[in-house]
Amino acid sequence: MSDHLLLTLGVLAASAAGLWAWRRWHYPSFWLCLRYPMTAITIRLTWRKVALGCGLTKKRQRFWFTTVPGLISSTGLVRVKRRLQRVAVDTKPWMWLPMPTRHGWRVTIRLLEGQIPEDYAQVAERLAHSWRVHAVRVSSKKRGRVTLAATIRDPLVRIDQLPVSTELLKVTVGRLETGSPWVIDFRTVPHWLNAGATQSGKSNLANALIIGLSPQPVAMVGFDLKGGVEFTPYEPRLSALATSRAECVNLLDDLVSLMVDRMAACRTAGARNIWQLPDTRRPVPVVVLVDELAELYLMADKSEKDEIAKTSTALLRVAQLGRAFGIYLFCCGQRIGSDLGPGVTALRAQCSGRICHRVNDPETATMTLGDLDPAALVSARAIASETPGVAIVAGQDGQWYRARSFYVSEQAAEVATRTYAGLTPSWAEVMAGTHCAELSDADLAEFLAPETAVLEG
Ligand SMILES: Nc1ncnc2c1ncn2[C@@H]1O[C@H](COP(=O)(O)OP(=O)(O)O)[C@@H](O)[C@H]1O
Ligand SMILES: [Mg+2]
Repeated sequence: MSDHLLLTLGVLAASAAGLWAWRRWHYPSFWLCLRYPMTAITIRLTWRKVALGCGLTKKRQRFWFTTVPGLISSTGLVRVKRRLQRVAVDTKPWMWLPMPTRHGWRVTIRLLEGQIPEDYAQVAERLAHSWRVHAVRVSSKKRGRVTLAATIRDPLVRIDQLPVSTELLKVTVGRLETGSPWVIDFRTVPHWLNAGATQSGKSNLANALIIGLSPQPVAMVGFDLKGGVEFTPYEPRLSALATSRAECVNLLDDLVSLMVDRMAACRTAGARNIWQLPDTRRPVPVVVLVDELAELYLMADKSEKDEIAKTSTALLRVAQLGRAFGIYLFCCGQRIGSDLGPGVTALRAQCSGRICHRVNDPETATMTLGDLDPAALVSARAIASETPGVAIVAGQDGQWYRARSFYVSEQAAEVATRTYAGLTPSWAEVMAGTHCAELSDADLAEFLAPETAVLEG
C-alpha cells in the first residue's frame, strides 16, 4: 500500500517537474498544447458570468416551458404557475472559439442589438481583471463583430535584439504589444512625430532608426538645435547636419530646392512621384531627422522672427510635398504644443505617423494622439517612467498600439554610422543639378493631388 502511495507521489512529482521544465524551456509549445486549451475552455464556460459582470448582457424575453408548475425557476425569482410562460433572461453576446496568439488569445464576439465596439472598449479593464490578463484590446474589422485580444503578460518588459532591415526605407524599431514587429516604413507613412519627455526613449528610437537606415542607399540629414549634442556623433553617415539657426535655414532652403528640382524631373518624365521614375534616374531618398522640434520654433529674441517664419514655411512645404519626392521627416520633440505657433499645428496635420512616449504635459499627448482615439491618450498617460522606450504608436494601419523600441545604445549607433560611412552621399552629390526656383501654388496643387498618395509597390 505504502509502495503504491510512494509510486503515485513519485509520478506526480515527476510530472509536475516535467511540466515546469516544459513551461520553462519551451513556453510556446507549452502554451499551445496545454495552457491554451484549458484557457479557451475556461473562457467559454465563464463567459456568461463575465459578460454579466461587465454589463455586456441584454435582457430578452424567452418562452419558458416547465413540466412541473409551481417549481421555482433557476433565477430564483419567478415562481412558475403555468407550464408555458414568458420570462426575462440575460443573454450573453455570442462568442466564437478563442484563438491562440503569441502572447495570449483573440476571440471574436457578435454584438448584441444596440451594442457598439466602444461598449467593449470601456469595459476592457474589467475584462482583463476577470480573465486575469495584462490587457484586453478591442478592435472591430467587421460591422456587428468585435475582436477582443488578450495579452497574458506585458510583452514589452524585455525586448531583444534589433533585426536587420531588408527593405528600402523600412526599419523594424521595436515590438508591438501584440507581439508583431513595430515597423517604421517611410514609403507607407512618410512623416513621423516622435514625442516624449526627457528620458522617455526618444533618442533611443532615433538611434534604432539610424542603425536601420545606415546600410541602406538613403541620405540622412540632421537638424539638431541643441548644439548638435544629439546627432554630431552620427555625422559620418549624415549627408548634412544643421546645428545653428542659420544652418537650419540654409539646409531647409536646400531641401525645398531639391524638391523643386525633383518635381521638374518628375514632370519631364510624366511621373507623379520619384518611385514612378526608371530605377537609373531615381534620386536618392532623403530622411530628415529633427531633434527637439520646438527649438526650430522658439524665439530667443525678436531678430529671429523672420528666420523662424522661413523655417516654419519651408518645413511645412517639405512635409506637404516630401512624400512624392522622396523626402521624409522624423521629428522628435519634448513639447509639441499649439503655443509654438500655427506652423507646428500645420506640420502635425501632415505627419500621419505618431509616436507618443511618456510625456509630462497632457497637451503634448493630446497634440500627438488627440485626434485618434481618447483611449490612446489614456494609455499614453499611463506609461511608467521605469519603462523607457514604451510608446503609443499610430500610423501604419490607422490603429494605435502600445509598443516598445529595441534598446540601442549610442555606441551601437555610432559604430553603425562609422561602419557605413562609405555609403553616405555628400550633400553636394544629393543636391547635384538643382537650380533653385520658387515653388508656386500651381506646383503645389499639381503634386498634392490625391493620386500622389498612391505609391507604386
Ligand atoms: N527601448 C528601451 N529599452 C530599454 N531602455 C531604454 C529604451 N529606450 C530608452 N532606454 C533608456 O532610457 C534612457 C533615456 O532614453 P533616451 O532615448 O535618451 O531618452 P530621451 O531622448 O527621450 O531623453 C536611456 O538611458 C536608455 O538607455
Ligand atoms: Mg534625447
